[in-house]
Amino acid sequence: MSLVRNASIARRLTLLFSLASSGVLLALGLVIANSVEKHFEEQDMGVLAGKMDLARQALATMESPAGLAKASQLWDNSLMGHHSLEVMVLDSQGKVLFATLEDSLPISAVLESAARNPYQPVIWSHGGEAYRGLAAQLPTGAADRAKVTVAVAMDMVHHQEFMRSFRQTLWLFVSCAAALTGLLGWTVVRHGLAPLNAMREQTKAITAHQLSHRLAVESVPRELGEFAESLNEMLTRLEEAFQRLSGFSSDIAHELRTPVSNLMTQTHVALSRDRSAHAYRSILESNAEEFERMARMISDMLLLAKADNDLVIPNQEVVGLAKEVLALFDYYEAVADEKELHLQVEGDGEVVADRLMLRRALGNLLSNAIRHSFARSTIKISIHAQAQGVGVDVENRGEPIPKEYLERIFDRFFRVDPSRHRSTEGTGLGLAITKSIVTAHRGTIYATSTHDGTTFSINLPPATPGVRG
Ligand SMILES: Nc1ncnc2c1ncn2[C@@H]1O[C@H](COP(=O)(O)OP(=O)(O)OP(=O)(O)O)[C@@H](O)[C@H]1O
Ligand SMILES: [Mg+2]
Repeated sequence: MSLVRNASIARRLTLLFSLASSGVLLALGLVIANSVEKHFEEQDMGVLAGKMDLARQALATMESPAGLAKASQLWDNSLMGHHSLEVMVLDSQGKVLFATLEDSLPISAVLESAARNPYQPVIWSHGGEAYRGLAAQLPTGAADRAKVTVAVAMDMVHHQEFMRSFRQTLWLFVSCAAALTGLLGWTVVRHGLAPLNAMREQTKAITAHQLSHRLAVESVPRELGEFAESLNEMLTRLEEAFQRLSGFSSDIAHELRTPVSNLMTQTHVALSRDRSAHAYRSILESNAEEFERMARMISDMLLLAKADNDLVIPNQEVVGLAKEVLALFDYYEAVADEKELHLQVEGDGEVVADRLMLRRALGNLLSNAIRHSFARSTIKISIHAQAQGVGVDVENRGEPIPKEYLERIFDRFFRVDPSRHRSTEGTGLGLAITKSIVTAHRGTIYATSTHDGTTFSINLPPATPGVRG
């Protein structure tokens, strides 16, 4: 695919180079041809005007038109000197009085030019040849000042010959130059695109097992540097996602293995001999508990899998935080009472959020706090305005979380004391879910822990609609 693209860029640029250079050379050639032609015309006109002047002077000394013919020698001497110059003198009836060459110029065209465009350059064609000429009616020295028509003309064959070969050379030169610049362009483009090919080679080395591989940004040209950097950033994101995914699936397998093997053992033992209905019932009850735990874990994992694919907030509404916290207190009242805990809420604030998701996030924090609180202590949830939105702190007195675990507790399946989890029934997904929900609402969460307790602090953006744009 990239090869085809490279080739097409090369082809396109080669064509553009050729077209541009031929266009420029052609325009230049035409300008030169035009000025050469103009120069020829000016040169011819200089000569012709001079000869016309001589003719006027010579005619002024002629006493009768008839004398013209006799003075042909004089004409030859004074007007000649140019091998391709033709002169023709006609009387008012169009009769040839003098001509350097018989039938060299078209008489009717000459008479017409002399009458309509005297002294103006005209081109006459006659006998298969083209002439550039001037014609005018000039007075003679005769007593009646009778006028004669004088035409001076030059054969254009040499100039035309020159222009023809000039044009041929020009075309040849332009085609060669176009081919050459095309070739040069192609070489330059191939050379210029070499770093792209090198990048392609580098990307070939990247597989699912080598996601840590990065493109060498310093070795690519500046124009491609940003592209390589974006690719590298993409690889980093992919690597992280890949690691999270592979870690997650091995964690899932690990977490499910224990309850499934428990269920299996228990079932095999139950089936090994006949038992009373009561015994079966208690085995099934214990199995049901295990199934419930697994079902909860699976639904939590599903939610987290959705969060990986950018968790969508289903509903966005203005939620009063104190009201939600009080609803949660109601829900957890019985468990809190077992440990004689005092649940307390302070302050209030509003955010735009999905009510159920937010309740779940706060519920996870509250259930953790209840689980890890010292008996007969107070759990305090304080809601307060912050520079950037609303802050919610969930604070409980209990065994602290070691500093090195404060960030890791938000990882999936992470528990500070894994050996304890069977008795406390935690799966280690609660905080991961809370963090996903808070992040989906563009908020932040972190934990702090001291010798007398732990606080989870959430920040949520202010209650302006359009939480996730
Ligand atoms: N308030 C707290 N005080 C002390 N430790 C805590 C507190 N909250 C969480 N932890 C620690 O963080 C770990 C992760 O908590 P998380 O809520 O993710 O999992 P869990 O409570 O074990 O299981 P789940 O919430 O999925 O039932 C807990 O196992 C516990 O060790
Ligand atoms: Mg929990």
